[in-house]
Amino acid sequence: MKIIITGASKGIGRGIAVELARHGHSLGLLARSKDVLAELSESIKQPGAPCYYAACDLRSPEATNTAIEELIAELGGIDALINNAGLVIRKDIFELPVDEWNAMIETNVNGLFYATRTVLPHLKQQGSGHIINISSISGRLPLPGGSGYAASKYAVTGFSESLFFEVRDHGIKVTTIFPGSVGSDSHSDGTETETSWKIRPEEVGAACQSVLATSPSNCISRVEIRPLRKPDCTQPKTRTT
Ligand SMILES: NC(=O)c1ccc[n+]([C@@H]2O[C@H](COP(=O)([O-])OP(=O)(O)OC[C@H]3O[C@@H](n4cnc5c(N)ncnc54)[C@H](OP(=O)(O)O)[C@@H]3O)[C@@H](O)[C@H]2O)c1
Repeated sequence: MKIIITGASKGIGRGIAVELARHGHSLGLLARSKDVLAELSESIKQPGAPCYYAACDLRSPEATNTAIEELIAELGGIDALINNAGLVIRKDIFELPVDEWNAMIETNVNGLFYATRTVLPHLKQQGSGHIINISSISGRLPLPGGSGYAASKYAVTGFSESLFFEVRDHGIKVTTIFPGSVGSDSHSDGTETETSWKIRPEEVGAACQSVLATSPSNCISRVEIRPLRKPDCTQPKTRTT
């Protein structure tokens, strides 16, 4: 398959890219960090499964459109878009400044919309394709101490689950993924113990591979992924996600 992944430079997006490259897909990687994308695409591309990249800030509709059209041209088409890029700022209402609220809405909601609306005409024309949106458990359940972030992820869920009904008659699948705590840059205090019980980014990639592999006649529309257990049970930790 020809798959574009947003936010592929680190964290979950990087894990998705590594896992999908391992399965022989042709990839287009998108994020702002050009050098990181160049290094990653070089390290995961395989014979017969190229990996292209484009640097862009998803908060700009024009830049997003240009970068994605460029990747589609290089790939020679598109079968799936994975909307993963996101900004995770966990601050409560008393701490969250307006500019950080806006940055989360512009990245998590607007950027996802810009990418989707660029890709959809291609999928509609070919009568097939798949949009996978990375929401969060915080896009389904309240997150005390992260109301702004939860608002942005509830918006992703509302958009994604409504989109399914808007495009299914064109043969286009939409899947919303709800990860719990994933060990990524945005969700770590930098200690091994803190990240060791979390879902690994590649495991979200494996979930993407599973839903991409379903038959053309059905769509897994929702996937919730949670860590199973914390290996070191002598140090209990409060876990809400
Ligand atoms: N970590 C978790 O526990 C968790 C759980 C559930 C859901 N999620 C969701 O999973 C997604 C990824 O989270 P993560 O934890 O992997 O975060 P991360 O490690 O901080 O990675 C975020 C990715 O998004 C890209 N990005 C951010 N702003 C961008 C922009 N304006 N334009 C283009 N790319 C941008 C970053 O690349 P550049 O900086 O190079 O642009 C990076 O590749 C997010 O949507 C998040 O809400 C995370």
